Amino acid sequence: MLVNSHSLAQQVLRDKQWIVPDRAWRSQQGAGTRWSSPASLQMSQTLPLLNSPAHTQIRRPLGNIFNQGTLADLQHSTEEMVEVLLDEFTDQLVDGPADFVALVSEKLPIMLIGKWMGLPSQDHDLLRNLTHDQVHTQELFPTASEIRVSDAATARLQAYFTNLIRDRRRTPGDDPVSTWIRTWDDLEGSPARTDATVHALAVFMVLAALETTSHLIANAVRLLLENPTQLALVRQHPDLVPDAIEEALRYDAPIHLISRVATANTELGGISIAAGETVQLLIGAAHHDPEHFTDPHTFDVRRRRGGAEDAPASRVTSHLAFGAGIHYCLGNALARMEATVLLTALLRRPIRLRLSAPPRWAPRVVFRRITSMHLTLVSTGHESSQRIDAR
Ligand code: HEM
Repeated sequence: MLVNSHSLAQQVLRDKQWIVPDRAWRSQQGAGTRWSSPASLQMSQTLPLLNSPAHTQIRRPLGNIFNQGTLADLQHSTEEMVEVLLDEFTDQLVDGPADFVALVSEKLPIMLIGKWMGLPSQDHDLLRNLTHDQVHTQELFPTASEIRVSDAATARLQAYFTNLIRDRRRTPGDDPVSTWIRTWDDLEGSPARTDATVHALAVFMVLAALETTSHLIANAVRLLLENPTQLALVRQHPDLVPDAIEEALRYDAPIHLISRVATANTELGGISIAAGETVQLLIGAAHHDPEHFTDPHTFDVRRRRGGAEDAPASRVTSHLAFGAGIHYCLGNALARMEATVLLTALLRRPIRLRLSAPPRWAPRVVFRRITSMHLTLVSTGHESSQRIDAR
């Protein structure tokens, strides 16, 4: 069953009678199906695919990984990284159109997660490419060849993080992987079980952080360039940057679909669903549900504040881009901070930009991905012309 209603999607995410398609569910789908592939089995060990009580046993000791202190430290690093990336980007713009995705939005998330987890910068490209390959297993209908690509990426990610954990055991630091090893050694009492838990966590943090945040950043820039009035508003009122990011998350969520399984015979929106049946929550569609959002197809950076002054007030209701309920995204504060720092710094620069060609997209359903977005410099200057503009 496909769910495109915001209220029903939210209800399913918050209701304990709906669970995630975990390892037990996957094994019931039979050998030789996509669910028994190595990539799928590896995913089933990660936090968003655990059900209670296994989920609580991992999530509770993790706590709030991006608390205010950690976030403040990372914000400082983000500001420095953003300036370096934007310098490179604007240097390239002098020679003509430059790809914002390749130069900025794909780089920042791996630089930051790499800094947080202490991953050497020479490994960043590898990890980013493996993530792009692995994500096929999380698609709605992956082909057999995509599953093979995903399996190969999974094996390399597994080897990478096995080595990383071995190194961190030898030389512990104050990075999250070393902290998780200490935490689960105390809880588990078995180094092998600790390593398995930490491995699943470390792999998933990288997988969770990259494509999603890259999409948020590229997409927020795209939507502003395509909506010049909204861009002008944010230029005039920089305190609207976080609102523009929330609206980008609503308008075109990085994850368009979340799956859940019924634990008992039930009914949803008047339709009977048998125990064990899956529902696909179409988050992208729910974010354009007119029952929930006024003028859902309008990109309105003032939506959270009640909408544009001369327009009927948009309903101030939350989006589901980070999910809801017990699996609510643990990295939401990091992604929001990254996007805020990037957009603020970009808008502060004395440059005018426009899309030089329509962005290119990966042909996907679940994980949105802009593969390239070429921007070009309209002019440089200051005062009134100091703005990023759209065609
Ligand atoms: C714009 C960026 C991001 C988006 C749109 C996003 C979206 C989501 C969504 C929709 C879920 C819930 C999945 C479900 O209910 O089945 C989720 C879970 C999760 N996310 Fe994110 N995410 C983002 C960034 C991040 C980052 C940067 C990290 C970590 C560094 C992260 C870590 C996690 C974790 C650990 C979970 C699993 C939580 C649980 O199952 O308890 N995410 N994310």
